[in-house]
Order: sequence, then C-alpha cells, then structure tokens
Amino acid sequence: MKNISFILFLFLITACSKSNGTSKSFSSSDCTSTISYKTDIQPIMNSYCTSCHQPGNAKGGYELSTYSGVTSNTNKVLASMLHNSGSEPMPDNGDQLSDDLLKKMYCWVNQGAKNN
Ligand code: HEC
Repeated sequence: MKNISFILFLFLITACSKSNGTSKSFSSSDCTSTISYKTDIQPIMNSYCTSCHQPGNAKGGYELSTYSGVTSNTNKVLASMLHNSGSEPMPDNGDQLSDDLLKKMYCWVNQGAKNN
C-alpha cells in the first residue's frame, strides 16, 4: 500500500511539472543581423504572448503589448522564453518558441533592446 501511494505521488509530480522545452542559450556570435523591435519582436509578442499579457489582463504583472511593457523587465522576459531555471517557462500554454524566434529575442536584448 505504501508503494502504491509513492508511485501515485511520483506520477502527480511528473504530471504537474512543466516539461515543454529545455533551457536554451545563445551567444553574441549568433547575432549576425540587427533585430528590430517593430518588425521582429512586436510580432512575436503579439503571436505568442499578448493573449495573456496585455493591459487589463497582465498575467504575473507583465504587459507585453508595448515596448515599455516588454522592457520593464527585459531580462526576465527573455529568461522565461529561454526556459532558464528560476523563471516560469513561457508561453504558459504551449510549446517553447522555435530556436529561430528565441535567437531573435536573445539578439534584440543583446543589442540593447532598442525601440527600433
Ligand atoms: C496562456 C497564457 C499565457 C501566455 C500565452 C503567456 N503567458 Fe506569461 N504568464 C502567464 C501566467 C499565468 C503567468 C504568471 C506566472 C505563473 O505561471 O505562475 C505568467 C508570467 C510571465 C512572466 C513572469 C515569470 C516569472 O518567472 O516571474 C513573464 C516574464 C512572462 N509571463 C512572459 C511571457 C512571454 C514572453 C510570453 C510569450 C512568449 C508569455 N508570457 C505567454 C500566462 C501566459
């Protein structure tokens, strides 16, 4: 009986932990072109994030539909997208973004998170 409880417990832990993607990392040598907030980053936010992060419905306090919202804590937003440990993996409801999109976000931050 004890064993069954333990197995059930392990099952619950596994079922509850989010495992949609692994922590990704990039380096500045990956950034070969200039990334633009308006043409690269804003569309990514609109496609994957603003359904839960917009004025009036800013989950976790993050409003990601504007430049000032995204840059209120740029490093945290990036860490969540890369699934770094210590940050909630985002998007909350789906798979981690493709390497291509994650690299754009990384490089935009690496290039100073400009309003370009
Ligand atoms: C389906 C809803 C949903 C989507 C889509 C979503 N989020 Fe979230 N987000 C949440 C919720 C809920 C929280 C509150 C923290 C939690 O999960 O407990 C949160 C929290 C966060 C946080 C704070 C994390 C922390 O560790 O404190 C950041 C940053 C964030 N989201 C960024 C994003 C980004 C970037 C995207 C798009 C790639 C995104 N979110 C997409 C629901 C969502």
